[in-house]
Parts: sequence; structure tokens; C-alpha cells
Amino acid sequence: MDTFPPLLLCLFVLAAVVSARRGLAGEFRRLASEPDIDHNFRGTKWAVLLAGSRGFFDYRHQADVCHAYQLLRKGGLKEENIIVFMYDDIAFNKKNPRPGVIINKPDGGDVYKGVPKDYTGEDVNANNFLAVLLGNKSALTGGSGKVLDSGPDDHIFIFYTDHGGPGLLGMPAGPFLFADDLNEILRRKHASGTYKRLVFYIEACQSGTMFEGFPLENMNIYATTAANPKEPSFATYCPGQDIGPPPEYSVCLSNVYSAAWMEDSDIHNLRTETLHEQYKVVKARTRDGIRPHVGSHTTQYGDRDLSSDALFQYLGTNPANDNFTFVDDNSLRSSSKPINQRDTVLIYFWDKFHKAPEGSAEKNTAQKQLLDVMSHRMHIDNSVQLIGKLLFGIEKSPEILNNVRPAGSVLVDDWGCMKTMVRTFETHCGSLSRYGMKHMRSFANICNAGIKNEQMAEVSAQACVSIPTNPWSSLQRGFSA
Ligand SMILES: *[C@@H]1O[C@H](CO)[C@@H](O)[C@H](O)[C@H]1NC(C)=O
Ligand SMILES: *[C@@H]1O[C@H](CO)[C@@H](O)[C@H](O)[C@H]1NC(C)=O
Repeated sequence: MDTFPPLLLCLFVLAAVVSARRGLAGEFRRLASEPDIDHNFRGTKWAVLLAGSRGFFDYRHQADVCHAYQLLRKGGLKEENIIVFMYDDIAFNKKNPRPGVIINKPDGGDVYKGVPKDYTGEDVNANNFLAVLLGNKSALTGGSGKVLDSGPDDHIFIFYTDHGGPGLLGMPAGPFLFADDLNEILRRKHASGTYKRLVFYIEACQSGTMFEGFPLENMNIYATTAANPKEPSFATYCPGQDIGPPPEYSVCLSNVYSAAWMEDSDIHNLRTETLHEQYKVVKARTRDGIRPHVGSHTTQYGDRDLSSDALFQYLGTNPANDNFTFVDDNSLRSSSKPINQRDTVLIYFWDKFHKAPEGSAEKNTAQKQLLDVMSHRMHIDNSVQLIGKLLFGIEKSPEILNNVRPAGSVLVDDWGCMKTMVRTFETHCGSLSRYGMKHMRSFANICNAGIKNEQMAEVSAQACVSIPTNPWSSLQRGFSA
């Protein structure tokens, strides 16, 4: 351990410190009325599930999607109506301590078996996701060809889980998915009259920006996001937490918001629980009751009227839970101090480093990988800061780059400008990568301040005279991918 830089060590010890069990902050208030169940519902329940990452250290996203699939099947949805996007490089990854098996919680069983491989590998991309939502088979590349072939009476549930940043969600292949493109597709889906109601759950950092300021009302869409527009989302069942994974795992098994909605849905009769009740349960679990600055704030968007619907209308319900009525007293509570999703890769290499025998080659490799990740992060952070200073001056720059617009406003007026700015940055400074997604607000604000692309190109060239080799560029793609 003595060769390990003290500052980093401090960070990881802090991250791994076992936290006290938390009491519960809010009281759960039961809605006065019973859940709305449309007994005349004759439509089909559809679902689209997408894990946006790849690589073993992001194990938890694909685990979340597999778990969601099992939940929906137990709820009675048919395989033909559930469309699964996952890179599928986890179960048979040579790093997987249980080959062929994926778990989503420490004492949980396999959730991988039986999950259909609709869109895997390079077919998990933004283009295919949007084509599937619209039910446009001719826009697909690869995959099983399964699309949301829904009709006017149908209910649709969409669950996305991965890294994100202001205004975008990650994808394991191809460019990221931007909020303006997603909202345009939802608008077209609504205009096509091919659903009755649509529920969208998103786990990602700054996931609130995907809907903030966009007009989802009057479209029969209800969404909840793991985080509000300003904050990261959090991983759970991570090495070093009070409820960690089995010792042979160096990865986090789930994310807080995802675990919260699925573990709640796993046990209850979903005819007796509304979307709103689940929102409150999930919100209480994603937020740290004792330290309000820890954890994220689950946020609702769209048509709140839908939230008095029973979960059953979207997720179905497992007949084995028929006698387990949802009441406040049996809702699941928070477990352990959450870990910022962006830090999970550090935890992964730290855990590898920690477990490797003293003086071994593995220990050296893990330490080197950790330092590479840290230095790549520093390069990204420093480059963005320097560009800001060159554009706006040393004093004004932080204020302009970090500015958060009032609630109800979109992140950026000109989305095309933001996408161009990021490409210009990557041309001169290298891939923004997964980590760099956190700086999207800065690029948005550069556009909001009226900066032209020529200026951006000039200062980026000045700020990034050299691009360090980035060991992550192949695994954690940026925009130019
Ligand atoms: C479906 O996708 C194809 C190919 O991208 C496109 O030409 C067509 O306009 C799309 N159809 C609809 C209804 O959006
Ligand atoms: C629920 O309770 C009823 C009445 O006690 C019983 O007949 C039924 O088998 C129970 N269902 C389940 C799934 O346990």
C-alpha cells in the first residue's frame, strides 16, 4: 500500500467507509384513493429496456435490465412484447466470477437466463432505440427486428439505465442519445396515435435534463428520473458498502433508483400500488435521509394524472404476490451510502488493487489503471476549465460554465450548437468519454452565451496542445465514435 498516492488513498477510504444505517426521512403518505385500474383495458402491455453501457466495470446496468425483464415476465408480459437492448458482454466475460450468471443484488439469483437478445453488441445504439420506439422497422440496423408495434389502446413502459450527463444519455455503440432527439421521437410517437399511455423510467446522472423544459404534458406520458437536472445518480451494492456484493465481485451490482423500483415491484401485488406511491418509495430510497447532500432526488415529469394508475397497468403483477398488498409499512427502505455512478470505475480498480497480493503484477496493473483513469479525468476537467477561461476570462468563467437555468427551462436553446461544440472539443482535446459527459452543461452554456464554433475551435486548439493517450477511448466512447 505504501506506494499508493496518499491523496487517492484518502479518497477511496472515504468512499469505502461503511456508513451507518439510515433512519427513514419522510413519512409515506398513502394516497386517499385506491389505485386506478382500468378494468376495461383491452390493450397490450409493451416494454422497452435498454442498458447503455458495456464493459465489465459497468456490470450493474445490464444486470438492471435483466432484472427488469424477469420482473415483467413474472408480471405476465409476453416475451414478444418486451424489447431488450443490452451489449451482452457480462455473463460470459472472463472477469465474471460466476460464468453465465448475472446477479442484481448480493443474495439475488441469476437474472440473465432467458433474457432475449433483441439488440446486442453494436446494435445497441441510439438510432435503433429510436426506430424501435417509433416502430419503424426499415430504420433498423441489425437486431431481432422486434419493434414497438403498438396500437392506440396499448400501454408502454420504457426503462433506460446507464451513465448520462446534462442533456444526454450514454449508448454502448455510436453517438450518445440527446434530449432533443428523444423528445422529438416521443412527440412523433404520440402524433402517430400508437399508444394509450406511456411510462418512462430513467436511471442516469442528470437524467432530469432529458425532460426538463420539454412539453410532455398532454401526451399521456409520465416519467420519473433517478436524478434532478443538477446531480449525479448513484450506484449500490458496491465493494466496501455496508451491503456489498459477494466478495469475489469487484463491481457494483445495481443502481439505487433501479434497485428501489424493482425490489419494490418484486414483492408487492402491483394492483394495489400506484405509480405515485412507487415514486415516493423510490425517492425516499435514492436520497440520503441523514445527509441531504448525499444521494439524488427522484423527479417526476409529464402528465401527473397518470400517476394514480396502478403499476399493474404497465408492469403486470406476479400472482405469487397476490396476498402482499402494498402499504407504507412494507415498502422497502434505503440500505447503504450510495456511490456516485461516475466513481464506480475508481472503486473497481481500487478494489482490484486492494485484493491483489502485495508485490504482484496484478497489483501493479490495477494501480496503473487507476492512475490512468485519474489522469484522463484531470485532462478533461482541466481542458474544459481552460477553454472557459480563454472564452470568458478567469473570473467570469466558472459562473458562466456552471450556470443552471431556472426550473422549467431546457438546458440549451440550440441543441445543434451544443453537439457541434462537443465535436470541436473532441477534435482538439480527445474523446470526452463517459466521464466527460458531466461537462455537457458547460458546452450548453458556451452556446447559450452565443459563442461561435470558430472561436471554440481556436481556444480548444490553444487549450489542448497535446492529447494524452487515453486508455478509455476504446471502451468509453465519446461523440465522434
Ligand atoms: C422509417 O425510417 C426510414 C429510414 O430511415 C425513413 O425513410 C422513413 O421515413 C421512416 N418512416 C417513418 C414513418 O418515420
Ligand atoms: C391468498 O390468500 C387466499 C385466502 O387465504 C388463498 O386461498 C390463496 O391461496 C393465497 N394466494 C397466494 C398466492 O398465496
